[in-house]
Amino acid sequence: MDDLLTKYMGAIAGAADEAMLEDLRLAALGKKGEISLKMRELGQMDPTQRQVAGAALNALKDEIDAALRAKKAALGDAALDERLRSEWLDVTLPGRPRRQGTIHPVSQVTEEVTAIFADMGFAVAEGPQIESDWYNFDALNIPPEHPARQEHDTFFMARAEGDARPPHVLRTHTSPVQIRAMTEQGAPIRVIAPGRVYRMDMDQTHTPMFHQVEGLAIDKDISMANLKWVLEEFCRAYFEVDQVELRFRASHFPFTEPSAEVDIRCSWEGGQLKIGEGDKWMEILGSGMVHPKVLAATGVDPSIWQGFAFGMGIDRIAMLKYGIPDLRAFFESDLRWLRHYGFSALDMPTVSGGLSR
Ligand code: PHE
Repeated sequence: MDDLLTKYMGAIAGAADEAMLEDLRLAALGKKGEISLKMRELGQMDPTQRQVAGAALNALKDEIDAALRAKKAALGDAALDERLRSEWLDVTLPGRPRRQGTIHPVSQVTEEVTAIFADMGFAVAEGPQIESDWYNFDALNIPPEHPARQEHDTFFMARAEGDARPPHVLRTHTSPVQIRAMTEQGAPIRVIAPGRVYRMDMDQTHTPMFHQVEGLAIDKDISMANLKWVLEEFCRAYFEVDQVELRFRASHFPFTEPSAEVDIRCSWEGGQLKIGEGDKWMEILGSGMVHPKVLAATGVDPSIWQGFAFGMGIDRIAMLKYGIPDLRAFFESDLRWLRHYGFSALDMPTVSGGLSR
């Protein structure tokens, strides 16, 4: 036993790596290891002999086992020290420009739109994306049986079983923010409300989630002429051209009367979109004079106050301005697309300094 102890302690002390250590463990304590075989011989001894030899063998086994563990830990520490010595990082190096992120076109355009309307005295209002049917429909003069509810291709939130209340919806437009803003602030009011909206629709120009910006201006003497001026002024500033051609088409929305949809002249050739030229018209917004019932629903007296509202597709006007042919690509997170269409994080759009550079 003394010989075994000397032999293994020496070998363990001299082991250069963990693989050698493992070989030693197997040679001594493995199933067919020297010490394990000796343990097996205990069975042939007489009881008194066995007692003495058994205790000694166990002690030997424990000692070798402890030495193996200690050496393993020491080798591990040495390996870590070696890695710490050889692998290091200079945290004072500058960042790598190639890895910089970019601003998504939707964020960029939202900033541009906000800057332009801020310049015209509009504040930004917000509302939740999960809406009650009161804000998304009823207060906007769309009662439960109204056909417009079907046209909205609404996503409904599930209610608990047995709960008979009407379900919440993913807002189908930003118009509920009109209701929230007027209910909270009353009139006069001048706000825009950019944000996400949801409808069950999917093709080259529709995605189930998209972005709108709502506009609302209520005062004592606001007319359709003001609406037209604001929208034309907006388009000139936004598209950064002197001439844009808008087409106001008579239309219908339950929450405006009269109502108009607005198209912008554009061309769409070889996958390239251009505005202000060509023979195509792209619908960019719905608008009109806020319906007296909508004002009344928010506690604003329609015999004193009136005004206009509009809802514009942010993704649509981003496609038009930056020549992006497919809306679906906006939301696919393809890094090559994001690098190509993304904007520098440090150029904040302003009306005086330039919207996009
Ligand atoms: N909410 C309408 C839509 O999403 C747009 C709109 C807003 C029309 C405000 C008129 C006034 O289609």
